[in-house]
Parts: sequence; structure tokens; C-alpha cells
Amino acid sequence: MLNKIGLIGGGNIGGVLMQLLVQRKYARNVAMVDIKGPDLAAGKALDIAEGSSVIRSDVHVVGSKEYDVLEGAELVINTAGVPRTVRPDGTIPSREELLTTNLKITDAVSAGIEKYCPNTILISIANPLDAIVFRLHMNLKFPRERIMGMAGVLDSARYRYFISAEAGVSVENIDAMVLGGHGDNMVPVRSACRIAGMPVEKFVSPEKLDAIEARTRKAGGEIVKLLGSGSAFVAPAQSALEMAEAIIYDKKKVIPVSAYLQGEYGVNGQFVGVPVVLGSKGVEKIIEMDLTEAEKQAFNNSAASVKKATDEVLEMLK
Ligand code: LAC
Repeated sequence: MLNKIGLIGGGNIGGVLMQLLVQRKYARNVAMVDIKGPDLAAGKALDIAEGSSVIRSDVHVVGSKEYDVLEGAELVINTAGVPRTVRPDGTIPSREELLTTNLKITDAVSAGIEKYCPNTILISIANPLDAIVFRLHMNLKFPRERIMGMAGVLDSARYRYFISAEAGVSVENIDAMVLGGHGDNMVPVRSACRIAGMPVEKFVSPEKLDAIEARTRKAGGEIVKLLGSGSAFVAPAQSALEMAEAIIYDKKKVIPVSAYLQGEYGVNGQFVGVPVVLGSKGVEKIIEMDLTEAEKQAFNNSAASVKKATDEVLEMLK
């Protein structure tokens, strides 16, 4: 159990995170900051605290408009930023289109972390995922063990769910990974997908797998369209907590995360989704997976899209 987990952003993902953290008791204290008024974070915290006796949890929750509430947090999950939402004409923006707005927010987030919890491990969820975590890393200069983005767990969870529904078997039987950037050309790795240890093709036809993989790549947008306002928040929160749990309990779990690559997968100086070993130190090891030629090509394309977004980050600094 940690002493304190900090949540930055009191939107839909932040709210589910706080609720789950009080239920799961990963830390004695959960502190949320959100600058929105009159005092959104305090309201969320009070609502959740008032239910804590009913669920028998003594986790202490607080919310504030000020970053000092994060003082000393050992793990921080950042969700601060505007989500994707359906435009009046019915179209939806790409995650990358959020960049300008969310970069400004990210700079304020970095300043808060630097001042109040500079030794924290940081998991970021705000979009565009890989570019925002790149900017956080630029600002904070954390060693790469302590800073990562959450996307691969979510994208893999979606892939696993779609496969389980098609194959008619338990989600627990599906082992699958989605790598690359958190954009529409992310890479579901079919060659590593197993159902109870057997190749996925034994259960699902190649044509169906093509369709499932296409759906996985656009799964965030599918939810945005259905909701009509905002983006997915339950599965993203659960996914971030899978990472938090691996860190808090030093599980050494192999999980895809957006990690700072320094030559691995032929990528240098970018955050891209790859399998890592997650433990109490954070990203303890990056695992280089064997990919087919087609998967390698798809990974390179996805990494090139991430580079385009991070080049924009650098351009905006000029
Ligand atoms: C999604 C958002 C959270 O994929 O990026 O649903």
C-alpha cells in the first residue's frame, strides 16, 4: 500500500479512478487536483468520501483546485486535458487535434508535479497520448523508468474483448497486445495473440481478425460517436489501474505502455507503445518482441505518426 496517489484532472476518467482507488485500497490517501470551479475536485472527493463507510473503506480522499494537495505523492495519474467529443456536424476530431489545447494544460501539470511531487512515478492518460507524455518528459526530465503513458493496456483490452466475443470464449482466455502509438494506426499484434495458449487463428478466421483489428484501431472513436459528448472513461481508468497495481505490488508484469525508447524498435527519443516489465521502479525493462515483417512495417508507420505529433510539440515551442 502506498501513502499517497495523486490524480490530476477531475473529469470522467479521474472520477472513476478515484472511486476505484477507494474501493481497491491501493493507497492510504488519494488526492485530486482540478482547477475547474467552484471546486470540482473537492466535490468529487466529498461525494466519494461520503460513500466510503458503505463500502467499508478508510482510504482518505481529498480534492482541491491547488496542486499542493499532491504533496509527496508516490504515484500520479494525469488525465488533465479536454477529451475528444462529437462536433456539431457529427464528425469527430482525431486525438492529435487536441494537441494545442492540451499542451498548455500539460505545462501547468508539469509545474505542479515539479513543485509538489518531483520523485513520483507518473502515468499519463491525456491525449494525444504519446505527444503529451513526450512533453511531460521534456518538462520534467524524469528518468524513463518513472514516466509512461497508458494506452496499450486499453487498446489491448479492446482487442481481447472483441476476440472473446467472436470466438465465444472467456475474455480471461485471450492473450493479446496492441503496440505503437495511441492513434488510428496502432498495431494489434496478431502473431502474438493466443486463446488459452493456442494461436488465435484456430478460433477466428483471418477475415474476421482483419475486421476486429480495424475496429480496435478505431475503438476510441466508436465510443466518442456513441456517447455524443466526451470519450471513453471506464475502460481507460481500469487500464491505468492495471499499471498502477503492477507498480504498487512490484508485480514485474509484462504490459504494453507508452515508454521512452532509446534505440529499441529502431526508435530514438520518442514515446511509443511497447511491452515492458512494470514493477515498483516503474518501467524496469523494455521487451523487444519478435514481429512479422508486416507487423514491423505497421509499427514503423505508427511510430512515424507519433514522431509527426511530437515534431509539432517541438515546433510549438519555437
Ligand atoms: C480512447 C481515448 C481515451 O481511446 O483515447 O478511448
